[in-house]
Amino acid sequence: MRKIIKNGTIVTAADTYFGDILIDDGIIVMIGVDLEDDGAEIVDASGCYVFPGGVDPHTHLDMPFGGTVTVDDFESGTIAAAFGGTTTVIDFCLTTKGAPLAQAVETWHNKSRDLAVIDYGFHLMVSEVTDEVLAELPRMIEEEGITSLKVFMAYKNVLQADDGTLYRTLLMAKEQGALVMVHAENGDVIDFLVRKALEEGNTEPIYHALTRPAILEGEATGRAADLTELADSQLYVVHVTCAEAVWKIAEARNKGLRIFGETCPQYLMLDQSSLEKPDFEGAKYVWSPPLREQWNQDVLWDSLRNGQLQTVGSDQCSFNFKGQKELGLGDFSKIPNGGPMIEDRFSILYSEGVHKGRLSINKFVDVVSTASAKLFGLFPRKGTIAIGSDADIVIFDPSVERTISAETHHMKVDYNAFEGMRVTGEPVSVLSRGEFVIRDREFVGKPGYGQYLHRGRFGASDKPAVKKLPIGGAY
Ligand code: URP
Ligand code: ZN
Ligand code: ZN
Ligand code: ZN
Repeated sequence: MRKIIKNGTIVTAADTYFGDILIDDGIIVMIGVDLEDDGAEIVDASGCYVFPGGVDPHTHLDMPFGGTVTVDDFESGTIAAAFGGTTTVIDFCLTTKGAPLAQAVETWHNKSRDLAVIDYGFHLMVSEVTDEVLAELPRMIEEEGITSLKVFMAYKNVLQADDGTLYRTLLMAKEQGALVMVHAENGDVIDFLVRKALEEGNTEPIYHALTRPAILEGEATGRAADLTELADSQLYVVHVTCAEAVWKIAEARNKGLRIFGETCPQYLMLDQSSLEKPDFEGAKYVWSPPLREQWNQDVLWDSLRNGQLQTVGSDQCSFNFKGQKELGLGDFSKIPNGGPMIEDRFSILYSEGVHKGRLSINKFVDVVSTASAKLFGLFPRKGTIAIGSDADIVIFDPSVERTISAETHHMKVDYNAFEGMRVTGEPVSVLSRGEFVIRDREFVGKPGYGQYLHRGRFGASDKPAVKKLPIGGAY
């Protein structure tokens, strides 16, 4: 079924212009003024922006972590994402030490296949790089299209990898055209500080932040950047929270290194005083790295604007306050790390970024969609409005004002970290491959509609995508 999206203001990472979009068979086939097509359904976008669907490069759906499992799965998580204007997520597939990677990937396919309402891909989360893992990786990249993998420098005795592992992974990534993602915090020193705090009887949520100081994020970021330079490889630093880490990324980029950085809405909007809320409510704001002193927010906004950081991911990793966050009553180190961000990422970036004058509207599209599509081998199929791209489209009314709340959000989780926040602008309708998932603020999608995305290699432009478009695209 063909559709014409009429009379909207089309916005990409490069341009803003008035026009109509003709969609056929899920693909954008024509863009112009006053398009006509007898058989097409007309979708009126008057007064609205027409954005490419958001690409969220960082989610943890249905993931076992911290002795429990994230409450939002591929159904509730992708429905919430769609309501929020996101049409692609890249979720972290958790691997198990000693078990084949293929087994973990199969588990993730089983979690997502019948539930996702929008398209999705996977990153691998690796904690050890053995000869077996190295031998298996090329097949994951080639056959599964999983072209990025996350290494942890924190979570000692759980996920933390040593520097040798990180270095070997960087070498392999260079050879295979993969992008190494790094959780940059010095896990050894954090482990010492956590044990010391608990010994001294400091058990409250705020000690989560106080035992993970910003300098340890900066140190690990700089170390990862140095190892990347030595390996002549490429690195993506996830969830950057603070000036110390931004400075290390900027220094590396100024040297011309292929180092990229992501921040998240929570670090742009919230600060560590949230962890001091009474009645254990601070636990709602426990994630890693932690919230920082407020002045860091300006540094993060500046670095999105000036390109030192390229993307905004949600780091969606939702645990209920009741029963899950409460596992850490009396011991902050047992609070499951993570928060619910998948739904509000896009709107917060529009409202606080564009509406408040911190980001141009094109930079907004870049950080919530285009840059992630490019870095993770999905461009130009995803991340833009162009002829030949998937018709993943958000019709966004910039005049609506609303309040974020757990009462009205679509995630399963029992709280919202941005409760009570006023935002300007709302996704009214959202299409994935030309089909409505959200229509006039109602969910009309179908679990299982979402397709698994085989992603292109880092920097590659030689991979044919669906419909014969080049995929990959150097960033
Ligand atoms: O606290 C967080 N960020 N939880 C999710 C896991 C991770 O480190 O990204
Ligand atoms: Zn409208
Ligand atoms: Zn992490
Ligand atoms: Zn994460």
